[in-house]
Amino acid sequence: MDSIYIGGGRELKGSVLISGAKNAVLPMMAASLLADGTTTIENVPNLRDTITMASLLEVTGAEVNLDFPSLSVNTSTMDTPKAPYELVKTMRASFYVLGPLLSRFGEAKVSLPGGCAWGPRPVDFHLRALKKMGASIKLKEGYVLAKAPYLKGCSVRFDFPSVGATGNILMAATRARGTTTIENAAMEPEIEQLAEMLKLMGAQIEGIGTSYLTVHGVEHLKPITISVIPDRIEIGTFLIAGALMGKVTVKNSVPSQLTSLLEKLHSAGTQVDIDRESITASFTGRVNPVDLTTAVYPGFPTDLQAQWIAFMCLADGSSMLTDSVYHDRFSHVPELNRLGADIKTEHNTAFVRGVKKLKGAEVMSTDIRASASLIIAGLAAEGETLVSRIYHIDRGYENIVGKFQSLGAEIKRIKS
Ligand code: UD1
Repeated sequence: MDSIYIGGGRELKGSVLISGAKNAVLPMMAASLLADGTTTIENVPNLRDTITMASLLEVTGAEVNLDFPSLSVNTSTMDTPKAPYELVKTMRASFYVLGPLLSRFGEAKVSLPGGCAWGPRPVDFHLRALKKMGASIKLKEGYVLAKAPYLKGCSVRFDFPSVGATGNILMAATRARGTTTIENAAMEPEIEQLAEMLKLMGAQIEGIGTSYLTVHGVEHLKPITISVIPDRIEIGTFLIAGALMGKVTVKNSVPSQLTSLLEKLHSAGTQVDIDRESITASFTGRVNPVDLTTAVYPGFPTDLQAQWIAFMCLADGSSMLTDSVYHDRFSHVPELNRLGADIKTEHNTAFVRGVKKLKGAEVMSTDIRASASLIIAGLAAEGETLVSRIYHIDRGYENIVGKFQSLGAEIKRIKS
């Protein structure tokens, strides 16, 4: 298994071009199954997860042509409403195909995603809403067996604005009979792009970008061409690295999607310069400790919590970071402590006491964002760091090693 070698302590300087958003492209790829014909998606990031989703679409019989950064999906050959365990177990977002498959075939057999590195991640909201839309749902041998000759519009209210459940039900509702309303819907920019895509395909959706969506079902959706928005989590990752170690500009970013992060960076003493489509974060000689609690959009994203903790490890004082979205998402903490950090966790809060310096060590990557946090910490540490199990980072960051190299970091991939 490959690992990443980091020679820490180098200043980072320069600019990086941000790739398409992982969390936007995955549901968009699933949505392509709803169109009759060939959908083209541009600015597709070259990630293990996009390759997994492409394989999943192929299992359904769709003809998939993945030539990064372009992808086309022809659904005219689709004949198998199935998502097998071998693929779903590697990526929870595979569950996004349930809504589209059920809507197209009147039945679907999709593996349950199972647990993951940060505790149980249930799919009860997805299933409850589909039942309300008239589907019969059975769980058998680790699979969801869903059946509905047709889905019917209804009103759905999520207990929590789940990103995945909103996307799944939104897709299912586009071709349902009648009107579906989704209350307490997720408002993440990636869901907004999915809704915009469905609308371009001919879906009738009102309330895009709000927590209340209304979908009037239509008979058919048409194929379109669409380009994926930039990845706000990748943007945040590079800005935090710049705030700690130099001056980093992220190009093709959407500053309005990162307000919560930019405010926190400002409180941490980072100089933040915003241009129309680029953001620069510069280290100003001191990092102030800043507490935060993750929240759904537009709050501080849970997907940047691990990177923020790496940042706070070198702050001048103590900070408290609470994850209110995923209560058990702290697998990076023991690894950061191996690098000399001083972090304790209690329930869903990490208490970070800033240290003067971190020291390189061998660490293990445990999930996508935890890996990014270890890379940031390794780059800031004195000496050599080796991050193993980096297949996690390949799932969610396109060419992170090359991008950090272009900023002047001493970082390389070591093939095993
Ligand atoms: C998506 C993102 C992930 C991000 C997360 C929260 C993708 C591919 N992944 O994951 O990177 O960290 O949003 O922003 O977009 N829940 C239930 N029942 C359900 C569904 C969710 O209880 O049926 C709970 C979860 O356990 C969690 C919370 O709701 O506590 C949020 O989960 P959700 O928004 O669904 O996350 P994902 O869509 O899986």
